[in-house]
Amino acid sequence: MRPSSTEDAQIMPTGPLDGPVIAALQNEVFPQEPWSQSSIGTLLGVPGSVAFLASARTYGETMPIGFMLARVVADEAEILTLGVLAEARRYGVGRRLLESACARARTLGARRIYLEVGAGNTAGLALYRQLGFTETGRRDGYYDRGDDAREDAVLMVKAL
Ligand SMILES: CC(C)(COP(=O)(O)OP(=O)(O)OC[C@H]1O[C@@H](n2cnc3c(N)ncnc32)[C@H](O)[C@@H]1OP(=O)(O)O)[C@@H](O)C(=O)NCCC(=O)NCCS
Repeated sequence: MRPSSTEDAQIMPTGPLDGPVIAALQNEVFPQEPWSQSSIGTLLGVPGSVAFLASARTYGETMPIGFMLARVVADEAEILTLGVLAEARRYGVGRRLLESACARARTLGARRIYLEVGAGNTAGLALYRQLGFTETGRRDGYYDRGDDAREDAVLMVKAL
């Protein structure tokens, strides 16, 4: 399931038929923020939806290892979720998913792309900064992390 290099993973646009796969990946990467198959199916069917799936071939089988969802409304895009399975991280899959989504969003007319990420999410922040996102603000205590713990959200934007 692990890509042995950046180029090993395939990044493909996807849609409503892959709703169950995306839901399974979302729920494995973010067990604390589960999404239902139906809510993901609905998101994937909305005009302006941008979705990519990453897969890797192992022993002749193609396995999904990462995903991302975004949406475009007029000239703005928003990243809704992005995740790579733990065993497939640091092979460039997250970066390629993000680059693919930015290119697709631009094709659909977006000129800026926005996102929110936890202030303690070192990997996410590093990835977004590497791809040219800059911080535009914060939401104090935005994420509920359970046991009365809260985490700030960092708001970021990138021109497309
Ligand atoms: C964030 C995430 C998607 C990154 O996916 P990935 O495939 O491992 O990322 P990449 O291999 O493409 O990394 C690209 C760059 O991001 C940065 N980066 C990624 N993971 C990092 C980490 N753990 N620590 C520091 N920098 C990191 C590095 O700059 C890296 O470039 P480099 O490998 O050349 O140094 C992945 O860690 C993940 O799924 N995390 C859990 C879900 C999540 O936090 N999603 C994003 C917030 S919504």
